[in-house]
Amino acid sequence: MTVKYDLVKNDISKREKTDISFLNEDVAKKVLKYHSSFEQYTETPLVELKELAKYLGLNDIFIKDESYRFGLNAFKVLGGSFTIGQYIANKLGKDIDDLPYETLISDEVKKQLGEITFITATDGNHGRGVAWTAEQLKQKAIVYMPKGSALERRDKIRAHGATCEITDWNYDDTVRYCNELAEKNGYVMVQDTSWPGYEELPRWIMQGYMTMAYEAYLKLQKENKKPTHIFLQAGVGSLASGVTGFFSSVYSDNKPIITIVEPENAACLYKTAKADDGQLHPVTGEMNTIMAGLACGEPITIGYPVLNANAENFLSIPEETAAYGMRVLGNPLKGDERVISGESGAATAGVVAQVMKLEELKNIKEALKLDENSVVLLFSTEGDTYFDGYRDIVWNGSYPNK
Ligand SMILES: Cc1ncc(COP(=O)(O)O)c(C=O)c1O
Repeated sequence: MTVKYDLVKNDISKREKTDISFLNEDVAKKVLKYHSSFEQYTETPLVELKELAKYLGLNDIFIKDESYRFGLNAFKVLGGSFTIGQYIANKLGKDIDDLPYETLISDEVKKQLGEITFITATDGNHGRGVAWTAEQLKQKAIVYMPKGSALERRDKIRAHGATCEITDWNYDDTVRYCNELAEKNGYVMVQDTSWPGYEELPRWIMQGYMTMAYEAYLKLQKENKKPTHIFLQAGVGSLASGVTGFFSSVYSDNKPIITIVEPENAACLYKTAKADDGQLHPVTGEMNTIMAGLACGEPITIGYPVLNANAENFLSIPEETAAYGMRVLGNPLKGDERVISGESGAATAGVVAQVMKLEELKNIKEALKLDENSVVLLFSTEGDTYFDGYRDIVWNGSYPNK
């Protein structure tokens, strides 16, 4: 087997501190309170893969299984739902603490708000979250998807009553198109990335994702465990920076080693970290990857500083690593629980499993400081959101290790 990763080391001891107070525990508490007011809320499982850890030569592995999130098979709804809640709170001049789900759907609030149309561009998971939230809150959603998006994902978005179409453009151009429509028609753009002049809502999206991190943190606290290593998959890096900011804040005395993982065809954060010249470095073109949720070429402007100050490693990985992670999680060792994890969800598990076992990745294992004392925390951010693709990889063995 020959697997090749590219790693950029980031010496965070030399970085200037950035403000991560918007990602601290108080904020996380507020966000969790909001999310737990939804009827569909349940905490997602934090699965301990003891046997896998033993087999790989690690102390422990915990993986948060976001396929159980609100019945939507992915974590993404956490960003859109909190953002829409916070937007409505601001519009009504209220604190979101006073706007639980029950109040949000009340006739009185609906009358005050009138009809709002939320618009977004998405590979699927984010759009489904926005469409779901709009449906819950009896508002409208319009979703555009980049070229090549799975029809199955489009249909799942339409099932929540949203207008949804697939465009002829890549993700970043689709975002630009939605933004133009929003400006022209007075729609509210709920995008899971930021750019100069569009930063308030993406900050709420990052905060929304903290629910996933906070639940994991509380569970680990209960079990008296603390991660030494956290691996986070990234598209634009909104999820990665939200979670990095949170854990860097709650574990400020003894920060875990944080590694950002991207597909090699869409590794914009890796490219930015490698250049290390104070600029963001986009990846352009079609960014073909099975990790659809990670196929983003433009780093999130408000998130990258959080990563630059707190994440020690930026890793670019091949397609086969994600497929390997899906198979490892889907076929657990006896005694471990199964995690059904899609291409973007399993990328980090693939990294950990390959790095610990493959001779050719020994130098990466050493650079990541993984050993028998390591307690690894992972986030399986989606289940089998692309049903046929999942089976093709896990059952038919597509994308085998070379
Ligand atoms: C399943 C999944 N994981 C991870 C990500 C990456 O999130 P971000 O674009 O914030 O980096 C996405 C984004 O859509 C996703 O759908």
